[in-house]
Amino acid sequence: MTSSNELRQKKIIEKTEAFVKAELSNDPTGHDWWHIHRVVQMSKRLADAEGADIFVCVLAALLHDVADEKLNESKESGLRKVGDWLETQLVNKEECRHVLEIISTMSYNAGTNPPMRTLEGKVVQDADRLDAIGAIAIARTFLYAGWIGHPIYDPDIVPRDSMTPKEYRHDKSTAINHFHEKLLKLKDRINTITAKKIAEERHLYMEQYVDRFYLEWEGQV
Ligand code: ADP
Ligand code: NI
Repeated sequence: MTSSNELRQKKIIEKTEAFVKAELSNDPTGHDWWHIHRVVQMSKRLADAEGADIFVCVLAALLHDVADEKLNESKESGLRKVGDWLETQLVNKEECRHVLEIISTMSYNAGTNPPMRTLEGKVVQDADRLDAIGAIAIARTFLYAGWIGHPIYDPDIVPRDSMTPKEYRHDKSTAINHFHEKLLKLKDRINTITAKKIAEERHLYMEQYVDRFYLEWEGQV
């Protein structure tokens, strides 16, 4: 029999799905509803394997990009939007605080953020990062580069070794550089053992893709 708590959680998840779909349906940057769907699916898998609270993970995964800095006037206004939404739901204070903590600290931020505090935070951050490694990640990267007007590749624009969050966001770069500046570094920034295994396999695929890209560029294959 389903308990009243399970029913409560199911309702919240369903309503939040509809809210997020409406918020992100027109997003052209690779943070659309289907990115959320993938992060939710992966969060469930990781939470199950790692023994994390699935409800908190799914709720945070659903809402993590609604508060994204790039899609809001500021980080604060994005977080307020999520906080306001949670207040209208039957989410208890502790769950609400936990979800807000996860989504306010999980962003990559040019690699400058401290480690996630809780297992649930680690799980959702891993799930989001896994969507930036592998076959789908390649597609997202070219989509995003096109959206901000970056070329696929330019040998004269070299990848930057280190950069501030502002430089990371605003300097002219290329889609291929993004692999070196961020995506190929992600596998060493994964929190859980379960996600690490998935990341390593996806990383290899992406590395082979980039190697092949350079060979084709020079007409060698
Ligand atoms: P986060 O919010 O985790 O810091 P982003 O939202 O910056 O990550 O990036 C999400 C995805 O968008 C990346 O995995 C990548 O595929 C794409 N992306 C972000 N920035 C760039 C960029 N400068 N060039 C190409 N793709 C990018
Ligand atoms: Ni995301």
